[in-house]
Amino acid sequence: MLRLCVSVLLLVSGVSGEAREPDWGFQSYLDEDYTLSCNHTSLMPDPYNAVKWELPDGALMDRGTEKYMLSNGDTVINMHLTIKNVQEMDKGVYMCHVYQTYNMAQREYRGRLLRGLNIGGHKYRDPFDEYRYNLMVGGLAAVALFVPLVTVCFVYKFRFQVG
Ligand SMILES: *[C@@H]1O[C@H](CO)[C@@H](O)[C@H](O)[C@H]1NC(C)=O
Repeated sequence: MLRLCVSVLLLVSGVSGEAREPDWGFQSYLDEDYTLSCNHTSLMPDPYNAVKWELPDGALMDRGTEKYMLSNGDTVINMHLTIKNVQEMDKGVYMCHVYQTYNMAQREYRGRLLRGLNIGGHKYRDPFDEYRYNLMVGGLAAVALFVPLVTVCFVYKFRFQVG
């Protein structure tokens, strides 16, 4: 039983909680602009395709605002969405819809791409900040797991000695 306890403790301490962005996810710094592009090997806009961006709250961007800037790729209309001065609350799943032509009357839908921003957390300018943050989170998680485990192990051991 003691060996089992030790193995479990080692196992738990070896588990790292590193956050990974999915293939469609992107990480930005805070307080800086960040540009999402509507392109992926699964859906490459052709020349003169038009892109329509959808914000995490579902709002469709028809034109740029103070917060969101739309810009063309070489020949692709509204290929890029720039989020100005990215903040914590800008994280989420953005979507871009690709249309065959910009003529609204006869546009043809080609598909959509997900563009996640900072879903697993934003980037840190000072790597030490992130290290410190991870250390803190890891430390808290470790304490939260270790205390009950150690208690269980001690209680079990103590029971044997008494019995
Ligand atoms: C998409 O476009 C951006 C900016 O033009 C470029 O940096 C990136 O490599 C492109 N990605 C793909 C998958 O083509």
